[in-house]
Amino acid sequence: MIEKDRDFLEAYLQDRKKLVEEALRSYLMPPEDNLAEIYKAVHYSVFAGGKRIRPILCLAAVDAVGGNLAPAMPVACALEMIHTYSLIHDDLPAMDNDDLRRGKPTSHKVFGEGMAILAGDALLTEAFVLLSRSGKVRLPAERRLNVIQEIAYAAGIFGMVGGQALDILSEQVPPDENILSDIHRRKTGALIAASLKAGAVISDATKNKTAALFKYGNNIGMAFQIADDILNVTGDRELMGKDTGSDAKRGKITYPSVLGMEQAKEKLKYHVNEAIASISGFDERARPLRIVARYIEERKE
Ligand code: IPE
Ligand code: IPE
Ligand code: MG
Ligand code: MG
Repeated sequence: MIEKDRDFLEAYLQDRKKLVEEALRSYLMPPEDNLAEIYKAVHYSVFAGGKRIRPILCLAAVDAVGGNLAPAMPVACALEMIHTYSLIHDDLPAMDNDDLRRGKPTSHKVFGEGMAILAGDALLTEAFVLLSRSGKVRLPAERRLNVIQEIAYAAGIFGMVGGQALDILSEQVPPDENILSDIHRRKTGALIAASLKAGAVISDATKNKTAALFKYGNNIGMAFQIADDILNVTGDRELMGKDTGSDAKRGKITYPSVLGMEQAKEKLKYHVNEAIASISGFDERARPLRIVARYIEERKE
């Protein structure tokens, strides 16, 4: 990445992260005293850190079609809440059994398994409360319904939950690239693609632009998970805030384990290039999306 783009990217990510975190704080207000423990668990994971890449992509899609950020903010935060729930559950002993997430002990290590399961359930459910609530800037009901449906579908059995189920089962199957790409497309690609599509739908983008952003999202989602697989082998534990080497230990099928490291990197590059190509018809307002795509290719965290 050239220096000018790197400076832009750093400032952009920092600025958007701040906006998203302020909004998240305002939506996750503390409840009554007797609910303090579950609220603490929810708060702990949401504010443990995290790159906020899904909300940032949602807002960047809004920018790319010249939309208004205000009605997109609750949607962006709901995406981050669903993502955070998926991480809490993904780390549970019954799933990946991880001890470190976002640079801190995982939810079940701090609050116990029961509370961690419920913190995940709470985040998933509250995300839909937020999505269905009419905020300061009203979104026409049909568009809101459309966004809710897209996100629910991406998070559900045909998307993330289905992908996570296949991921668990894959610990017992022989390595196969078709199975692997299907898992990645569902467990990670679907919610990322929905983040882009939601931005387009909120902004009432044309059919063509919406399809282009969805294609960008699917490719960048695949790229994102391939990078995650690569970083699980070569990444820095401190930078990433989670343990490395765990995929091999659990016998997961990943891009490096199925294709080898060099070809995994080629696939990553391929999906990043496809993502950028799919928005070639967009003007300068899509610059953040183009640069974020490169960032995903080069990311170290
Ligand atoms: C980690 O997601 C899990 C994957 C789907 C690869 P992120 O890399 O976005 O994690 P945070 O939100 O920054 O912690
Ligand atoms: C996480 O996949 C995918 C979801 C949480 C949906 P991984 O299990 O590969 O991600 P990390 O490495 O734990 O973040
Ligand atoms: Mg997992
Ligand atoms: Mg995991």
